[in-house]
Amino acid sequence: MDKNCGEIRAADDGKEVVMYGWCRNIRDHGGKLFIDLADRYGMTQIVFEGDIKKKADLLGREYTVKISGKVRKREADAVDATSNTGDMEVYASDIDTINEAEIPPFEIGDEKEAFLPGEDIRLRYRYIDLRRSRMIKNIVFRDSVTKSIRKFFWENDFLELETPILVRDTYDASGSRTFVVPSRVNKGEFFALPQSPQLYKQLCMVAGLDKYFQIAKVFRDEDPREDRQPEFVQMDVEVSFKDEKYIQNLIEKLVQRVFSENLHKEVKIPFRHMDYSEAIKKYGNDKPDMRFDYELVDISDEAKRSNYNILKRVLESGGKAIAVAFDADYGSEKQRFDKDYMLESIETAKNLGLRGLTWMYYSGNKLHSVPESIAASFAGVEKDLSEKLELKDGNVVIIGADTSESTLLGAMSKLRRIIGIKIGKFKEEHSFLWVDKFPLYEKDEVTGALQPAHNPFVAPTEETMKYLDSEPEKALGKRYDLVLNGVEIGGGSIRIHKPDMQRKALKSMGLSDEDIENSLGFLLKALSYGAPIHGGIAFGLDRFVAVMAGSDDIKDFILFPRNRKAESPLDGSPSPIDSKRLKADYDLYKKEQ
Ligand code: AMO
Repeated sequence: MDKNCGEIRAADDGKEVVMYGWCRNIRDHGGKLFIDLADRYGMTQIVFEGDIKKKADLLGREYTVKISGKVRKREADAVDATSNTGDMEVYASDIDTINEAEIPPFEIGDEKEAFLPGEDIRLRYRYIDLRRSRMIKNIVFRDSVTKSIRKFFWENDFLELETPILVRDTYDASGSRTFVVPSRVNKGEFFALPQSPQLYKQLCMVAGLDKYFQIAKVFRDEDPREDRQPEFVQMDVEVSFKDEKYIQNLIEKLVQRVFSENLHKEVKIPFRHMDYSEAIKKYGNDKPDMRFDYELVDISDEAKRSNYNILKRVLESGGKAIAVAFDADYGSEKQRFDKDYMLESIETAKNLGLRGLTWMYYSGNKLHSVPESIAASFAGVEKDLSEKLELKDGNVVIIGADTSESTLLGAMSKLRRIIGIKIGKFKEEHSFLWVDKFPLYEKDEVTGALQPAHNPFVAPTEETMKYLDSEPEKALGKRYDLVLNGVEIGGGSIRIHKPDMQRKALKSMGLSDEDIENSLGFLLKALSYGAPIHGGIAFGLDRFVAVMAGSDDIKDFILFPRNRKAESPLDGSPSPIDSKRLKADYDLYKKEQ
């Protein structure tokens, strides 16, 4: 009987089995040779003795083999309680070597996690990296989440539709570049790879296909980060004749189901809401981690009155100072981190470009620092600071200052999250937050020019529609982001469905009639054929799965991700093209002059 390497149980005792797998750990105990035979389902210990051992002695690490043998119960003192198959083993009667293997570039066993090589080596040999049980778990988890999502939408009468990958290069405001593909048939012309299925799902609504979803590959030519890849997957949704509440409720139910099916955890709905302006004011960014409080507090006034010259200089040149107090039990037995950790975090924040940054702790109703001279320079404002920040014994206070508000808020919000996680006093394990009422436009800090804050298809709220002409920066959009543990896992909006309004929105971004016609004429035309009220949302599936599994690094949940330089060490892409081919292709793609 064929068995995989994870399914042998006590009930199989005495059965003759055939198993296929990889020789993971090999241990020679003189008269007996033990091999842990592994596949994606697990590991089974195979025992070789007598004549068959001589054959097995030739096997090497990661050789692929077929083993025939008999299942036996292990001796009590040989049982491995950490493994599902740990009380059984298979006594081999025959081995078939399917393939030899070169010595792998790194070891695969779980206990070897600490000795993993750098990321590029793991990515170059991804097929080996993926044999590790942690990676198998991640990939299987992703598959399982994707299946739950599909089931949810199918059961709710949504159509799973596919939109094109070779699309028109349209005006896009998402802040990232578009990948382009030359057309061979139409010389000198290009397709673009979609940054999202946005326009096409809107066209589905015009077509009357009112409940759409898609697990869609999308492409953005931007620098990868922990939570960003040039090629990623969106769980994309759009509905007609519904409002924000319907979409948010739908997504809450979806999340509830996905958590229950995959983590066996009950998620409470409805999720909490927060206006964009409140998120920025209290937490410094639009994706606050709400597992803890730690609000950012403007202490420019107190900092000005202190004797701490680094901060004062920044304030005198028009900057601001912001403080955040953490419940760190500093100085007590429960202390969450030490001075070196704080210094490292300060270094991290300085690398984010902050001009002034310092930290202190509160103990015995007094501010302290290492060295004490920093706290001494705040002595005159100590009382005001402790009242404003509601300081308690063991609190750690971080103060940052900069002349650029966005730099200051960006750095302080990052620090808030890094240190909040380190302290770990979470109110809940998974904290969901809808961030609403985003401004439609934002001002470029350097040029002062207005630019769309998201994409230019977001409908304005009824209350702020009146500002569109006179003071567009006051106009808010019917847009919502879903944040989970400080990670933006999804974003969506109710769209503009009237062609005139859409034209106006595009014009207000400085596009000429010609630009609009050239780039988005096809959308405007479609809207003019009776477009319904519509809206939707897209989740970053890679992010959603990673955060669910407790990780911030989406690469661990993607089969073949790109490294930090947007390269694939696996296949060496992107790569130069052979000059002869390039010339031939270039001539092929070049428009006749
Ligand atoms: P948005 O641009 O906010 O919205 O993207 C939706 C979600 O996709 C994820 N995401 C990414 N994940 C990995 N790598 C990236 N480079 C990356 N960029 C974004 C985020 C984000 O919340 N069309 C709209 C959606 C809509 O309005 O329906 C859109 O694409 O989790």
